[in-house]
Amino acid sequence: MKRMLSGIKPSGELTLGNYLGALKRFVTYQEEYDMFVFIANLHCITIYQDPTQLKSYLKNAVALYLACGLDPDRSTIFLQTDVPEHAQLGFILSCNTYLGELNRMTQYKDKAASSEGALSVGFYTYPTLMAADILMYDPDFVPVGDDQKQHVELTRDIAERFNNRYSPTFNIPEPLIAKTGARIMSLSEPTKKMSKSDVSDKGVIYLLDEPNIIRKKVRSATTDSCAAINFDPQNQPGISNLIQIVAACQDRSIEDVVATYKDYQYGAFKDAVATIIIDTLTPIQARYKEIINSELLEQTLMKGKEKAQHIARRKLEKVQRKIGLEIKKK
Ligand code: AMP
Ligand code: TRP
Repeated sequence: MKRMLSGIKPSGELTLGNYLGALKRFVTYQEEYDMFVFIANLHCITIYQDPTQLKSYLKNAVALYLACGLDPDRSTIFLQTDVPEHAQLGFILSCNTYLGELNRMTQYKDKAASSEGALSVGFYTYPTLMAADILMYDPDFVPVGDDQKQHVELTRDIAERFNNRYSPTFNIPEPLIAKTGARIMSLSEPTKKMSKSDVSDKGVIYLLDEPNIIRKKVRSATTDSCAAINFDPQNQPGISNLIQIVAACQDRSIEDVVATYKDYQYGAFKDAVATIIIDTLTPIQARYKEIINSELLEQTLMKGKEKAQHIARRKLEKVQRKIGLEIKKK
């Protein structure tokens, strides 16, 4: 069975973008793959987080993973800091990464250009920790949204370098980017990604938003004056985003969605989109309510930790031995 691994960084409440771009796909993948999914809580603190709020984001994220259908009996679900080997391998890999490579990371460059305050060293080096998260488990595939593709490519370069410098140690993973749902945009600013760290939440649908809030947000989504339902992200980014959301929620092709709604007025189309989102999220919210205060959360993380750490310990020992960090006799 091929292995797949991905992480989510819950530095805010999870959004429809996280669901359509990541979680929903993980649930299907667990049928076919040995799936590893973890909460990247170390990645969260690369930008300061209020501790009480962070704790609640983390807990909600685990509950939402389960509510979306990830099955702890099938997938390995764990918290990054429950496996401290990640941080240690991260440091080792940072010693096999060049400054020039990190300087080229688009996410870093964008942040450095727009950041009013100072960026932390952790933010700068986080792609090497992400490489450790991945390479630790030798996955074949890493499903991510397209904003993370560059980091997975860097991971491949680091792995190849390490394998050449020492000897074959890491499997070289492939990034896996979905066609629909890969990049859900903000409803209010449809040229920007829908992101949980947006300052204004007008354009962001959270997985736990009430139906009336969802409808309100979709109704006020930015559109255009073309008065036609076309998939044309360049000229009609708002409408195209709504089409993409429907396609991803209902597992349909873009063409199929356009064919259904081509004669709709924008208002009616938005209402239809809102209903589809509500129908998608209502069952998830109901399961979330059952899970959030149950023992399933802790049980899941315990089980995940045990399995992940078993693999991580062996991998880290192997890496340290190859580098010459160990003093023990063979
Ligand atoms: P993040 O919220 O940036 O930690 O992302 C967690 C996962 O969800 C990653 O695989 C992202 O690429 C994916 N993701 C986040 N926001 C979106 C979005 N607006 N559209 C599609 N995928 C997204
Ligand atoms: N950096 C990813 C993000 O911001 C989260 C992440 C951390 C991740 N480690 C990972 C994703 C390993 C895939 C594999 O979304």
